Amino acid sequence: MTKPNLLLELYSNLSTTGALTFSSKALVKKMVSQADLKGAKLIVEMGGGDGSITQGIVDEMDSSAELLVFEINTSFCEAMEKQFPQENVHIINASADELNAYLKGRKADFIFSSLPFSLIPKDVVDSILKQANAALVEGGAFIQICYSYLLKNLFQKYFKKVSISFTLKNLPPAFVMACKD
Ligand SMILES: C[S@@+](CC[C@H](N)C(=O)[O-])C[C@H]1O[C@@H](n2cnc3c(N)ncnc32)[C@H](O)[C@@H]1O
Repeated sequence: MTKPNLLLELYSNLSTTGALTFSSKALVKKMVSQADLKGAKLIVEMGGGDGSITQGIVDEMDSSAELLVFEINTSFCEAMEKQFPQENVHIINASADELNAYLKGRKADFIFSSLPFSLIPKDVVDSILKQANAALVEGGAFIQICYSYLLKNLFQKYFKKVSISFTLKNLPPAFVMACKD
């Protein structure tokens, strides 16, 4: 899928994508820099989209690490499967709400998310964040990009510490919230 087609898919599904454009390289860099991926064994991404964050993670993770990417849009999944043919990158065409079913008892070192939480039903948000918290290894982190500072209140209900950084180099400017227990 070409970049214009990916963008068209994004606009055509605003109620589930929640964004007018994909994350910039600067935002991806800021997000990935919140995690020390050296030595991480299992990494999860929620809301793969065009694979922009996926690429940032793949560039930094060890070749022995495994990455699970959840994405509900089938067209995005097909494009990411072509972009990431590596055996250790698994594109999962399912909701992030199915995290436990795919982890099968394993724990993740880091979970990166660009899910549009303000558009997802409250019970599903609750289920995703509870599963994410329980799925992390000790010292692990749930790292979320968002366009509103107010989402901090949501993450504070599930995680003890939320550290926030910000970049203007994205449309719109965005926050990165690194959540830990
Ligand atoms: C704001 S876009 C971000 C896309 C890309 N990761 C980026 O940063 O530009 C959010 C993505 O989350 C996906 N999404 C929405 N709800 C989801 C869910 N419950 N589980 C997995 N993916 C979901 C959308 O289809 C969309 O691709």
